Amino acid sequence: MMARFPVYRARRLRRSERLRAMVRETSVDPTDLIAPLFVTFQEGRHPVEAMPGVEQMSVKETANEAARLEALGVGAVLLFGIPESKDAVGSEAYASDGVVQQAVAAIKERTNDLVVVTDVCLCEYTDHGHCGLLTPEGEVDNDPTLELLARSAVSHAEAGADLIAPSDMMDGRVAAIREALDESGYAQTPIMSYAVKYASAFYGPFREAAGSAPQFGDRKAYQMDPANADEGLREAWMDIEEGADIIMVKPALPYLDVIHRVKRETDYPVAAYHVSGEYSMLKAAGERGWIDEERVLLETMLSIKRAGADLIITYYAGQLAAMLGE
Ligand code: PBG
Repeated sequence: MMARFPVYRARRLRRSERLRAMVRETSVDPTDLIAPLFVTFQEGRHPVEAMPGVEQMSVKETANEAARLEALGVGAVLLFGIPESKDAVGSEAYASDGVVQQAVAAIKERTNDLVVVTDVCLCEYTDHGHCGLLTPEGEVDNDPTLELLARSAVSHAEAGADLIAPSDMMDGRVAAIREALDESGYAQTPIMSYAVKYASAFYGPFREAAGSAPQFGDRKAYQMDPANADEGLREAWMDIEEGADIIMVKPALPYLDVIHRVKRETDYPVAAYHVSGEYSMLKAAGERGWIDEERVLLETMLSIKRAGADLIITYYAGQLAAMLGE
């Protein structure tokens, strides 16, 4: 039941900023934001050409950046590693002195309660650039990959990671990681699963940032078909049954319907990943003066929250937290 004009006048509650603020349904808070960081073995900072404002950073610079983000109120950082060398089995992904493992420890020394999330995947660490081991025929081999992902997750927890985020899209990896964490004494370490991850062209700039482009073929045999939404629900439920604590949908803006359904149907905490291509498009149009970057950014973030996301992973986290704090 709803009152009609002139009993109801929609404009009454829009007359001043104070009134609008009182009835505002959705907000973006810095603590909801997760900032991805690219950790490299090299010294210093190295700009990523396709992502203005984003840099690959040494372990030390990563810790500095994490401290800066914490001071701005950002809730968490999400670490990706660029290893010294790559091989067929992604050895540095689960090395105790790997670049991400070192960065976790360094961040923990510099920060108070910033949440440190680690991405678990093999694609940055394998010489072929795929997210798992290969069969002799060149197919990504699901089951033998699980053990390596579980080893990576445990090595991250040992370094002090607060939250483990597998992004590989192998079937059964949440269960494998949960079991390995539990057996290693990390039963309290939660998992944020990239449960609904599409084979998306919006990841283009990331592959420059993380040096993780597949050397042949594509990821369509393990990441999802962008045409499918029902299947996304199956992926979400599968990971929940295997022990995921937070469900991620990725990318964000082109998949708001999926975010909405996952939130509605599962009631689990939902994270949305505003990915590299989404970031670079806004930056490019903003730099040319074609859009008002800050306003479009805020509207974009609100739309992702309105769709149902509790958390947003975005390269804009620092800039946005600074804007919100002004
Ligand atoms: C690794 C991974 C990717 C992203 C996050 N983790 C790349 C991919 O799947 O190819 C993409 C993030 C972004 O584009 O911002 N599997």
